[in-house]
Amino acid sequence: MRIANRPLISAEIIQARVAEMGEDISEHYAGRALTVVAVLKGACFFASDLMRCLTVPVHVEFIRARSYRGAVSSGKVEFTVAPECDMAERDVLIVEDILDTGQTAGAIVERLMADDPRSLAVCTLLDKPARREREIYADFVGFTIDNVFVVGYGLDYNERYRNLAGVYVLEESP
Ligand code: IMP
Ligand code: MG
Repeated sequence: MRIANRPLISAEIIQARVAEMGEDISEHYAGRALTVVAVLKGACFFASDLMRCLTVPVHVEFIRARSYRGAVSSGKVEFTVAPECDMAERDVLIVEDILDTGQTAGAIVERLMADDPRSLAVCTLLDKPARREREIYADFVGFTIDNVFVVGYGLDYNERYRNLAGVYVLEESP
């Protein structure tokens, strides 16, 4: 496997879109404080850029949900890191790197809803609606992409490529 020569989404385009999303989210939550739940590991790159574009007060928590082995989804989700605070009475925004089958985000929504937050929304950098297995929609989407496996800007293939500044399609080696 290797990455394509040119990014599917360049670092410049990502940063411009992240700034726009920051404005939208700040406007949506104006006058309120926001609890961001960043989904480890992939979304922490996106979340840290996004949070620096928010003008509302932010409290950040992390959750780690594992559902993937290599390029194939196992469909089963387990939590290996949990938020340190209760979500009750909070306006909560889950920040994901990608919505693929929707199993991970769906399981996280269920887990956080059990705390009875004031509101719960989902923000994702990438949305791959073609592969959805669960009915779950993001409230804030950076880019909708086709059914391709991508790496970079937090997204990995067997833990590689997370540190790339752009998003690249992973291709079979010739
Ligand atoms: P889902 O549970 O199928 O929606 O998958 C969500 C998780 O799978 C993401 O948080 C990623 O870690 C991983 N994933 C899904 N699609 C891709 C991809 O194209 N590249 C890298 N990781 C992916
Ligand atoms: Mg992954």
